[in-house]
Amino acid sequence: MEIKIERAQTLKEKPSQDNLGFGNYFTDHIFMMDYTEGKGWHDARIVPYAPVPMDPATMVLHYAQETFEGLKAYRDPNGDITLFRPEMNARRMINSNRRICMAELPEDMFVEAVEAIVKYEQDWIPTAKDTSLYIRPFMFASEAGVGVHPAKSYTFIIILSPVGNYYPEGVNPVKIWVEDEYVRAVKGGTGFTKCGGNYAASIAAQVKAESHGYTQVLWLDGVHRKYVEEVGTMNVMFVIDGKVITAPLEGSVLPGVTRDSIIHILKDWGYEVEERELSIDELMEAGKNGKLTEAFGTGTAAVISPVGQLYYKGEEVIINDFKTGSLTQKLYDTLTGIQWGRIEDKYGWVRHL
Ligand code: COI
Repeated sequence: MEIKIERAQTLKEKPSQDNLGFGNYFTDHIFMMDYTEGKGWHDARIVPYAPVPMDPATMVLHYAQETFEGLKAYRDPNGDITLFRPEMNARRMINSNRRICMAELPEDMFVEAVEAIVKYEQDWIPTAKDTSLYIRPFMFASEAGVGVHPAKSYTFIIILSPVGNYYPEGVNPVKIWVEDEYVRAVKGGTGFTKCGGNYAASIAAQVKAESHGYTQVLWLDGVHRKYVEEVGTMNVMFVIDGKVITAPLEGSVLPGVTRDSIIHILKDWGYEVEERELSIDELMEAGKNGKLTEAFGTGTAAVISPVGQLYYKGEEVIINDFKTGSLTQKLYDTLTGIQWGRIEDKYGWVRHL
């Protein structure tokens, strides 16, 4: 793929690495590429970070044909730039786009684009502990028109953001509100895709949870409002009776890269992992009788986020005395150790640029 480069006239001052937060700063350049029906993908370019002008009738603004991905670039102890399993993001975006009837970006082009912009902006990869360069590839329908049909043109963009912790709590337990009014997804819908619409639909519940003093919501399935599916924007796992239980990938749950990696590591360590329906009643009961010993969310942004407390219909369960569990901590240390190059990558997940 030929990539044209237009360098920014002035470069931004880089933020202090002490308090980056998540998604607050963006680098000097972005990757862009267009798709036109009959012509395919064209005009790959690295250009200065700037607003994207749009016709008011641009289809994404009306019918939300939009998908995105999230992954990170790291600077390892040897100074190498690395990515973590970028081909998984490329494949997931293809699956998302198929469901939303959008143009597909081949895996090799996705990875090449990510590598190109990360290399070009490598000075932006932070090096302080727990920091990385968050990579946000996204695609949207760029055709103008208000008829409802698959667009004939799309734009693919990658923006980059130096980040620290996703939650202000850092890697400390969060309080979770079990949501029984709003639902995130149903089988047959778009839950397994990373489309903007899923996140738009989730915000009301998040606002509700926050208004009650909770950091995030635990989503129940959309049909029975009974089985636990995800936590906030992450997959979720529970340690009950020494086994790790997580929702199966049957259409309403996002196939997380971190979820997949954690399941691999757990099985490698000899843990029994059950991908099965877990009812909220079984979960609360396990919490009350001490069988629920740990719970944590898994996602690219926060990596592993321990759950310390669950609230459901007037009942409260505290997990592991609201402390990060030993398995949760070991998983966090191992996965981040592999990602940041502190631990040998025996799974072949890390890609050196
Ligand atoms: C992730 O954890 O990777 C996410 O999807 C969070 C993102 C929506 C900010």
